[in-house]
Amino acid sequence: MKWRRSFEGARCLVTGASSGIGRALATALAHAGANVVLSGRSIDRLESVRAELIAAGIDPNSVAIEPADLTAEADRQRLIQNASKRFDSQLDIAINSAGVGATGHFDTHSPAVLREMFEINVFALAELTRLLAPLLAAGTSPSLVNLGSIVARRGLPGRSEYSASKFAVAGFTESIRAEWAKHGIHVLLLNPGFTATEFEANLLADTARMKVTDRRVMKPDYVAKRALKAIQTRKNELTLTFDGRLLLLVNRAIPRFVDRGFDRFTRRIFNS
Ligand SMILES: NC(=O)c1ccc[n+]([C@@H]2O[C@H](COP(=O)([O-])OP(=O)(O)OC[C@H]3O[C@@H](n4cnc5c(N)ncnc54)[C@H](OP(=O)(O)O)[C@@H]3O)[C@@H](O)[C@H]2O)c1
Repeated sequence: MKWRRSFEGARCLVTGASSGIGRALATALAHAGANVVLSGRSIDRLESVRAELIAAGIDPNSVAIEPADLTAEADRQRLIQNASKRFDSQLDIAINSAGVGATGHFDTHSPAVLREMFEINVFALAELTRLLAPLLAAGTSPSLVNLGSIVARRGLPGRSEYSASKFAVAGFTESIRAEWAKHGIHVLLLNPGFTATEFEANLLADTARMKVTDRRVMKPDYVAKRALKAIQTRKNELTLTFDGRLLLLVNRAIPRFVDRGFDRFTRRIFNS
């Protein structure tokens, strides 16, 4: 598989493009010369991203918006049909960034949190990926990017539903990578750290005692910059913080050590 030299003219679809990381990825691709379809639920926000790009000098013909609630099959079908029409049944880059989180202890939440989380983070992502297969297979140096997380590789207390959904994404992504090797499609699992987006405002539940708002310091633009480099070099997985990489390294080597650390941490919080 060859490295991608540039994004000039690349045909791209980005979900979650109305906000945060997806928005930054779509913006970075457009500025790098790509032809981008932006998807999200909110038409207003998609339109404002498009207007911002055009105001920054991007050719209006190279940015399209396609509103879709990805948990609805009809919306997924329509999104793929329209992207397919626009790009002659070919796609070079697809990014699954749409997603939500939740914080708090599992036994205190209603079953709806887990269901809703899996509908968007797992089922919608997987079913959209199924529809993307023929388009990417026909693309040039094609790449699929799925948004994982540090919690896709290590479960954390107060993040049970979210960790479960992202572990599913990680496993799915690894399987698809092997299955799609026959088409020459590169598949990247992107694991940002705490990033300053609207993620916290959109949590399905937010009952954790420990808040991490102050730690959301990673900039979406930085995530996008690193992701584009990883697409170019056809990296399989990118974990974006030193702390995250260290946690995953220690967890792989001595998981009991990490387990004990989190046990102590939880007991301390609940005894205080
Ligand atoms: N922020 C972080 O710290 C962080 C860290 C690691 C991984 N991630 C992952 O990065 C991805 C993007 O998160 P973010 O931080 O950018 O959050 P965000 O600012 O809240 O953006 C979430 C995006 O997902 C879209 N979305 C949500 N539900 C949808 C649905 N049912 N159908 C279609 N689109 C839907 C939203 O569209 P509308 O607004 O139009 O509804 C929005 O564009 C997620 O997969 C998240 O798990 C985030």
